[in-house]
Amino acid sequence: MASRIEPPLALLAEVTHRCPLRCPYCSNPIELDRASHELPEQEWRRVLTQAAALGVLQVHFSGGEPMVRRDLAALIGEASRCGLYSNLITSGTLGGERELQTFAAAGLKHVQLSFQDSTSNGGDRIAGLPRAHEKKIAFAKAVRAVGLPLTLNVVVHRQNVAGLAEMIEMAVALQARRIEIAHVQYYGWALANRGALLPTREQLDAATGLVETTRERLKGVLTIDYVVPDYYAVRPKSCMNGWGRQFLNVTPAGKVVPCHAAQTIADLVVPSVRDGSLADIWYHSEAFNRFRGTGWMPEPCRSCDRREIDWGGCRCQAFLLAGDASRADPVCSLSPDHSIIETARQEAQSLSHAFAYRHYG
Ligand code: SF4
Ligand code: FES
Repeated sequence: MASRIEPPLALLAEVTHRCPLRCPYCSNPIELDRASHELPEQEWRRVLTQAAALGVLQVHFSGGEPMVRRDLAALIGEASRCGLYSNLITSGTLGGERELQTFAAAGLKHVQLSFQDSTSNGGDRIAGLPRAHEKKIAFAKAVRAVGLPLTLNVVVHRQNVAGLAEMIEMAVALQARRIEIAHVQYYGWALANRGALLPTREQLDAATGLVETTRERLKGVLTIDYVVPDYYAVRPKSCMNGWGRQFLNVTPAGKVVPCHAAQTIADLVVPSVRDGSLADIWYHSEAFNRFRGTGWMPEPCRSCDRREIDWGGCRCQAFLLAGDASRADPVCSLSPDHSIIETARQEAQSLSHAFAYRHYG
């Protein structure tokens, strides 16, 4: 790959894997970082300073649940001091208006709040936490009371997609500007629960049709982003807009990776913020350079006219499903491994409802 490496646009700061929710579609790894391994505040401050110096424009504070960290306001303040736009990605089950006021004063610019369903029964069951839905509704109102812009994030799957219309109406009622409707992406806990989550083709088509008509109806009121499930696509998504092109993640323990699932690639040597600066890691590490550009690609990607559109799809999915991160994403119908996806789609016809809930240890 000879083309120039651009600086990253955004940093996903996964400040903790701790979370009061236990969502079965969580894309965090099965082996979660323990609280005792989390980077302390001073090291996160250094990460934020280095990110800004590297050219990062936005930081997304995420987890787990970032609000379990008592130093979150200080980290938002540090991001703001460095000139970074900060977004909080939260389950909204810890804290409320008082905390949000502190975050806004520290420089927080936007809140992205997850919902598991449109009702308490469904939402609490999927989250694995009693009263989660009720707390989220209160939190959404607090976000608007503080004057921060709100995006709702709903992950849809076989067991909640029937309530999609109500979820969109809920977003309007809560004065969200935007709703991100994302079908489950099958990594980490979600892959372990795939048999209970993958929608049928009929469910997918109904959801897609609903989004199209509702988008038109709510133009100017609510922006609807929609992510379709990989498993029903013909060509893969351009995962992370290409490996090492625009994004970097720092995990709770300080590992620096091109995407949230990269640590699952068994032979990837993953650098740490303790090994060198973010700039060194971004430009020079083996981990970030391994799948940059197109030079690493085997056939069919190497000679495909979409190789600089989808960048061969998702490296982590290729590893998780085909056992080799350098193969074409099996989602692609041109991939020699595509039968893995076809078999998984058959599973969606089974009626498993039991979740393996996310847990520590
Ligand atoms: Fe993308 Fe590779 Fe499939 Fe072409 S063959 S569409 S580059 S995954
Ligand atoms: Fe890692 Fe797609 S999630 S490259």
